[in-house]
Formats: sequence, C-alpha cells, structure tokens
Amino acid sequence: MDRMFDFKPDADLSKAERYRQLVQAAEALIAGENDAVANMANVAALMSEYIPDLNWAGFYRVVEGSLVLGPFIGRPACIRIPFGQGVCGAAAQSGKTQLVKDVHAFPGHIACDAASQSELVVPVMRNGEVCAVIDLDSPNLATFDEEDARGIELLAKALEGSI
Ligand code: SME
Repeated sequence: MDRMFDFKPDADLSKAERYRQLVQAAEALIAGENDAVANMANVAALMSEYIPDLNWAGFYRVVEGSLVLGPFIGRPACIRIPFGQGVCGAAAQSGKTQLVKDVHAFPGHIACDAASQSELVVPVMRNGEVCAVIDLDSPNLATFDEEDARGIELLAKALEGSI
C-alpha cells in the first residue's frame, strides 16, 4: 500500500542529532523492504534532505569486482569505477571511510561533477565484505568532518543486509 512520507530534519539540529534522525528515518523507510534499489533510492533522497551543502549523494555498488553507479541525487556520474581508483575505489578496496577535505589534493580523484570540492565515502558491508559505498560530494572545501564520517558510518551499518 502506498503511504505518504514526510521525513524532514527539524530546524537547528546539532550534527549528531541530525544524523540520529537521518538513521532513524532510513530505518523506518527500509523496514520490511528487501529491494536494494528501492532502499538505496530512498536513502539517497533522505541524505539530500538531511545533509546540507551537497551537490551529489548516492551509492556505488560492488558488481563483479568493480563499483557500478547506483541510485543517487545529483548530476549524471561516471558509471564504473575500478577498485583502488578515485575516492570511491579507495574506500571499496580498503573497506575504510575516506574523508577528503579537498578532492584536488587526493591522488586519482575522479571528477564526475566539476563543482565537487570535498567528499566523504563510506563502505557498506555484507557478510564481512564491501557490497557498496555511500558517496557524498560537496561544492565547498572541507564540508565534512569526523562527525559526518561517524554519522554516515552509522547509516551504512543500518543498511547492512538491506541493500
Ligand atoms: N569523485 C568520486 C567519483 C564519483 S562522483 O563523485 C559521483 C571518486 O573519486 O571516486
């Protein structure tokens, strides 16, 4: 049955509270739904509602050993990224969050949108392996900090088994 959703962050939230609400909204949206595309699409939409200063928010999925573009909000992006290449490929290969304050200083950064200046990429795990990455791009330098990284890691954890 169709339902109307009205997830929006409250005004003047602390960053920690904003991420808490984002994770809660994501959990509510994916509860009982096992279609990975639907869940990634809704979470991409939620990230763009809850996180300020973004020009791109979405997913790359691991398909046959490389990253393939998944649901996102933003401008059209590169479709396939080999493990180890760019910020997304580094996150997929290492299994570790990549917090990049200035993408132009990151060796091998892949510029999908020339407006992007800083980036945060967090792996999502399934059965102990990376199955996707969450990618956030900002048109400003140093938009993301450790609190954003921890917040998106909580979101990635909440998505385990649902994408
Ligand atoms: N900048 C990313 C590529 C993906 S786009 O930002 C959407 C990277 O270096 O992996």
